[in-house]
Amino acid sequence: MKGKFITFEGIDGSGKSTQLRALEKTLRARGTDVVITREPGGTALGRHLRAAFLETKEKVAPMAELLSFAADRAQHVEHLIKPSIAAGTTVISDRYADATYAYQGARNGIARRQVNQVIRLATGGLKPDLTLFFDIPVEEAIRRMALRRRSHAKKNRMDEETAEFYTRVRRSYLRIARREPKRFVVIDAHRSVGEIQADVVKVITKFIK
Ligand code: ADP
Ligand code: TYD
Repeated sequence: MKGKFITFEGIDGSGKSTQLRALEKTLRARGTDVVITREPGGTALGRHLRAAFLETKEKVAPMAELLSFAADRAQHVEHLIKPSIAAGTTVISDRYADATYAYQGARNGIARRQVNQVIRLATGGLKPDLTLFFDIPVEEAIRRMALRRRSHAKKNRMDEETAEFYTRVRRSYLRIARREPKRFVVIDAHRSVGEIQADVVKVITKFIK
């Protein structure tokens, strides 16, 4: 039987990486076989692309940005996601194609139609079976990003976007939630880590049972 393909999405600072780390611990403790991965940077090539792309000081053209995430994803799909689900293993990825729809779709200068075309090319049509969207008000996400920067200097080009940009990104995610309510589960991420974790474990356990 094929493994399930699950993704975590949310604006930066929504707390999805914190939740994925906690979920990984829970699943490993139960002996559940699972591949935990991320975009960008889920493969060796992807890690080079991620470093080059997220750390460059150069202004990146919107189309170059769109195609960089697509190149990372094409490699990820072919070399990690597809082989793992074919072998019957559940794959959980911190971000996937919905991030391109939401982030690159929120950039000026790229038509939605082009964004959708590039997503189809990079994924070959592979869609997640389930997506957990960690929804949070933009102001709270920005507050958390500022705290994170202070605590361990994790920082990238995208961390410096405006509240207005993140508002557009969040709206795009919520549009997907309305369009695909069965796949796209909205989690209220403006709560304590423990409360959110309880919901995440419940949803995932039910889904991969
Ligand atoms: P993301 O991966 O979505 O960008 P992170 O998991 O890195 O977000 O969390 C962003 C920051 O917020 C981190 O400093 C993290 O410790 C903190 N954080 C995560 N979840 C919560 C929460 N539920 N409440 C308060 N702070 C949180
Ligand atoms: P990362 O450090 O992984 O962010 P976080 O831990 O906050 O999720 O950086 C990834 C950045 O790239 C993040 O700002 C979202 C952005 N991104 C896109 O713009 N498009 C995409 O397709 C993907 C996968 C990520």
